[in-house]
Amino acid sequence: MAELIVALDVNSRAEAEAKVRMLGEAVGFYKIGLELYTAEGPDVVKAVKDMGKKVFLDLKFHDIPRTVERAVASGGKLGVDLMTIHSVGGRAMIRAAADAAAAFGAAGPKILAVTVLTSLDAADLADAGVAGRTPAEQVRAMGRLALDSGAAGIVCSPKEVRAMRELLGPSALLVTPGVRPAGAAVGDQKRVATPGDAVRDGSTHLVVGRPILAADDPVAAANAILSEMMAAQ
Ligand code: C5P
Repeated sequence: MAELIVALDVNSRAEAEAKVRMLGEAVGFYKIGLELYTAEGPDVVKAVKDMGKKVFLDLKFHDIPRTVERAVASGGKLGVDLMTIHSVGGRAMIRAAADAAAAFGAAGPKILAVTVLTSLDAADLADAGVAGRTPAEQVRAMGRLALDSGAAGIVCSPKEVRAMRELLGPSALLVTPGVRPAGAAVGDQKRVATPGDAVRDGSTHLVVGRPILAADDPVAAANAILSEMMAAQ
């Protein structure tokens, strides 16, 4: 059963808590990213966990293996459920993150790898010394590297999810932002899919922000997305 994660793209703990309270029982999983975490630190993670919710801590670690290992351990102590790292950190860094997460057992955090940021194109990859591979080829190579090095899954576009499911096998977690219910405003997202399509193509977790938080009735918006996900299982 795929899960819905609401992106808490706000910059204060008070606002984050208000959103979680407003959505109540409808939503059980929240993404805390760089903006909110940099503003409020671990207290906001603890606050969301104390409200009985799961947390996807999206800080995209990329550092030497020992530092990433210790940062993942800190996240595990906070009780986070999903955490991100950059797969370009390399095999040893991904392995260090996965091992640190595994030390918390089955209920500990799962490591997700970012393959290629969707803001990068072929020219950006060439600038970074990645020549001879298209962004799509680089996504596949980095996805394979991440899973082979112990990551539980990857973050990917819903347009890539079917191919990534084929490449990475049935147990990989495939977490997809860029989800928009039919007829919803697309905002700055360029490659969107409906919740039903994302689930049918193999997403395990759908990350949705504005279509829920900016809706006139956020609970109804969340429930409509959940019904569409359920119908597509
Ligand atoms: O409001 P919206 O539904 O577009 O929010 C999607 C969330 O997923 C945001 O937190 C955004 O930063 C994140 N995200 C994304 N596209 C990516 C990676 C992350 O939209 N490629």
